[in-house]
Amino acid sequence: MFIICFTLLVLIAQDCASQDDEGPYRGKFIGKLNSYHHQVSGDVYAVDDLTVLLVNFNYDGTGEDTFFWAGDSGRPGPQGFIIPDEHGKTNILERYNGAEVVLRLAEGKRLSRLRWLAVYDVGTQNAFGDVYVPDEFDPPAPRSLGPLAPAPSAPVVVSSKSVRFLDANTFLIPEFRYDGSGEEVYFWAGVGPQPSARGFIVPNEHGYLEPLRAYRGEDVALELPGGRTVFEVDWLAVWDAAERRALASLLVPDALNVPPAKLRTHPHRTRLPHCKQLHRDYQVAWEVFGNQITIELAAQIEDGEYMAFGVSGNETRSQMLGADVAVAYFNAALQQATVADYNVTAVAPVSIPRGPREYPPRSP
Ligand SMILES: *[C@@H]1O[C@H](CO)[C@@H](O)[C@H](O)[C@H]1NC(C)=O
Ligand SMILES: *[C@@H]1O[C@H](CO)[C@@H](O)[C@H](O)[C@H]1NC(C)=O
Repeated sequence: MFIICFTLLVLIAQDCASQDDEGPYRGKFIGKLNSYHHQVSGDVYAVDDLTVLLVNFNYDGTGEDTFFWAGDSGRPGPQGFIIPDEHGKTNILERYNGAEVVLRLAEGKRLSRLRWLAVYDVGTQNAFGDVYVPDEFDPPAPRSLGPLAPAPSAPVVVSSKSVRFLDANTFLIPEFRYDGSGEEVYFWAGVGPQPSARGFIVPNEHGYLEPLRAYRGEDVALELPGGRTVFEVDWLAVWDAAERRALASLLVPDALNVPPAKLRTHPHRTRLPHCKQLHRDYQVAWEVFGNQITIELAAQIEDGEYMAFGVSGNETRSQMLGADVAVAYFNAALQQATVADYNVTAVAPVSIPRGPREYPPRSP
């Protein structure tokens, strides 16, 4: 008899195949803070024209009347204005130790019009640290790349308006059209000079990795899976995996100046030898050892969502009804992961713990 062990991990990022690299993209680098007093230091990035990110920011917190301060001319001095702190408050700054701080400029201010940013003491008119914004600074912003270009010999018409990267991870295909006739057609992305079979599926707008349905001029918002960014892909395509050809495609320029991804993901990599991505936010990994199978479920799930995995209710296909599944979720109140055994006797919205989002269970 098989013994099945479940490990539950909430919050994933990397999918089964993706690689670690030099660290997350944080936006466009403005510079390092020049350090004058009170141990001010850190790296300054533009997230977009309204948002500044300080990384590894330090300040000893002992200034009397000290603020994040910016100006649009000259050099740091009394001619400036407060940038509210990470809580949107204009309180006197306290101590920061290696902090990551997101600052949103006040109404009507734009990073591209600033000359400098500082940690500035208004009482003593003293800059403790500052950084200058380069001339003609072009902050990250959503970028349009042009429409999906239909492949000349494609048997079906695939079209869209100009594809727009909203941030490094998310893009929009406006007015997407495809008749849904292919059996193995996917949104697809990869590297190399042109679309090829060596790409990966971009999950559909609901996060599933199934073949595409028909789209009749819909706006489709997609995320690159596994925490990948636009900098790791050279092209996007609508790919027919059965015929190994693109129905339509689009080249992605290098170094697209877009905001960083909004979603912060927690890196997770399974130690088990087999792994399959079931959904954009859900993967299963397993190992068979003697008479024991260890199954690890890893998902990015909200409070109130659950994941399920088990033996299909049908010997020949994946079927939820009749399945014997482990339902796993994170109980926020108890701060603990919970796994419960269920037999699926009816397909209906359930409340375990609440919320009707269902992942079809599949047999491994
Ligand atoms: C399993 O699926 C097949 C094909 O869809 C169907 O004919 C059969 O009735 C299903 N069996 C059960 C037990 O649901
Ligand atoms: C589910 O069904 C199986 C097979 O009929 C049975 O052995 C098991 O006890 C059931 N589990 C639950 C939680 O009802």
